Order: sequence, then C-alpha cells, then structure tokens
Amino acid sequence: MKRVLSGMQASGKLHLGNLIGALSNWVRLQDTYDCYFFVADWHALTTGYADPSSLKESTQDILLNFLAAGLDPEKCTIFLQSRVLEHAELHLLLSMITPLGWLERVPTYKEKQQELRDRDLSTYGFLGYPLLQTADIIIYRASYVPVGIDQVPHLEISREIARRFNHLYKEIFPEPEALLTEFPKIVGTDGRKMSKSYDNAIYLSDTPKEVEQKLKTMVTDPARVKRSDAGNPELSPVYHLHKIFSSQAEQEEVAKGCRTADIGCIDCKKILIKNVFSVMEPIWEKRNELLKNPDVLHDIAKKGTEKARTVARETMHLVREAMGLF
Ligand code: TRP
Repeated sequence: MKRVLSGMQASGKLHLGNLIGALSNWVRLQDTYDCYFFVADWHALTTGYADPSSLKESTQDILLNFLAAGLDPEKCTIFLQSRVLEHAELHLLLSMITPLGWLERVPTYKEKQQELRDRDLSTYGFLGYPLLQTADIIIYRASYVPVGIDQVPHLEISREIARRFNHLYKEIFPEPEALLTEFPKIVGTDGRKMSKSYDNAIYLSDTPKEVEQKLKTMVTDPARVKRSDAGNPELSPVYHLHKIFSSQAEQEEVAKGCRTADIGCIDCKKILIKNVFSVMEPIWEKRNELLKNPDVLHDIAKKGTEKARTVARETMHLVREAMGLF
C-alpha cells in the first residue's frame, strides 16, 4: 500500500475551510492508502515563537478535530510532530546539503514575511520551514502528500532535496508527489476567503448557537436591501456556501428565489443553516464525547506517535549509514 502523509500547522482553531479543503479528503484517503497525519506544532513556532501561550490548546484542538471529522486511528496513524525527534535529526542532516538559495527562492518565504510584517521572521527557523516540511515528508518515504495549491512550492523543494540526497548518497527517498485537493477556498461570513486572520470563519469548535448566529448575520447580495428587491445569487457569499453544503435541488430553489425575490435572505439562510448543521452535528457529538474523555485523545496520539517513530527510526538508520555517520 502506498504511503500518504500530511500535516496541519497548529496555529489556531480549525474552521469549515480546513474541513472541506483538507480533512474530509484525508478521511477518504485513509481507506485506500497507508496514511500518516500529524499536527505540525514545530511549524507553528516558526511564525509564532514570540507567543506560544495558545500552542498547546491549538494542538489539542487539531487532534480533536482530526478524530471528530472521521480520521480513524484503526485505519491511519495520527501523531504529533514534536514527539518524533527523528524529524529534527533529518532536518539537521538535510540542512547540510540544502543550498540557501533554494530556501530563499521559495515564494512563500517573502510572501509570508510581508503578510506578517508585525513579526520578526528573519530567523533561521522560518527560512528553514520548507526544509522541516521536507523532513516530515521524506522520513516516512511517503509517495503522496495531500495539500492545497498553496503548498505546491513546498512540495517542489521537497522533491528537489530528496533528489539531491539520492544523488549524493544513496537512493533512499521517493520523490513525494502532491495530491491536490480539488475544492476551492470557501468564503467566510464577510464574503472574503474563510480565514482565521479575517475573523470571518466558522470554527469546528463553535457551538450550534454560534454557527447559527454567524450564518444568520452573513453578508448577502448587497442589492437586496428590502425583501422585495430581487438579487443575484452569484454575488451572495451565502449562495457560495450553498454550492458546497446544499443539494442540487436546494441550490436551484434558492438561486431562483433570489432572482425573483420569491424568497428572502432569511429563508435562504435557514436552508443553509440546516445543511451546515447536518455536516457539523456528528462532529460536535464526537468532539463532546472526546472532551469528556481526554485520556482517549492522549492514548490515540501516543500510540500513533510510537508507530510513526518506528518508521522514522528505520529511515534514519539508512540515512546515517548513507551519510557516513558511525
Ligand atoms: N505547511 C503545511 C501547512 O501549512 C503544514 C505541514 C507541515 C505539512 N509539514 C507538512 C503538510 C508535511 C504536508 C506535509 O498546511
């Protein structure tokens, strides 16, 4: 069985965008591949090192969501990056063979620095972000890495580094391939891309009341000022979410109703709320169950971490040998 690996950075709570864009896809993959999924808590420190006060909580929330969304520890391996020290060793050894220019040229390096200008990201760790990600991937000799399109430059450098290692020492690493998630970015309550930095996200940890409130007050087509004003569904972020969460028939119904002003925005949102709830209800249920038994969560992470470590150790034996270490 081919191996699949992916990670999620522990820098905040997960939202519906993370669920639709990544997690749901992982849940499907666990039936077909030997899957490894982890919380990238070290990666969170590359940008969040100055204030790690919420790191533990984010890490726990991600683990909780992995399970609540349907990742099954019987089918896949769930673990914490920072508990498999071999990632750090491989990161160090790869740093010996990685030209600085390769890291400086990764487009996300300068982009993220611009985006997070209030933080000092002229650090060694931040430059090495894609190298740590490379170590995460190739230490499991993974074939496929399910990621969003934003991660393609990182996968590209991972492939280059694997190739360089294989060329310099020994063919140990397959070149990992991105498995692109076909889902587009989903919009948030204000119509921009759903993101925790815009304060427009619906979090998996939100209560039903909070979700209802957020959807009820969501932006719609601004042309519909009065109930009798006709609108254009394509201009309404609510309709965009219908396309993801509602049936074909419901989508047609609300689109038509919007154009003819036969239904109001409140009615349209009610249908959306019902459908978002039916996706989130099993997640809420599982989250609550796990929150009552935190030991179960710890146990699963511990077992997964042990299993991951066993594979990582095997690879590191080969790597040490190939690089002439005693
Ligand atoms: N950089 C990824 C993100 O921000 C997280 C990540 C860390 C990752 N290591 C990885 C993803 C290895 C895939 C494989 O989403």
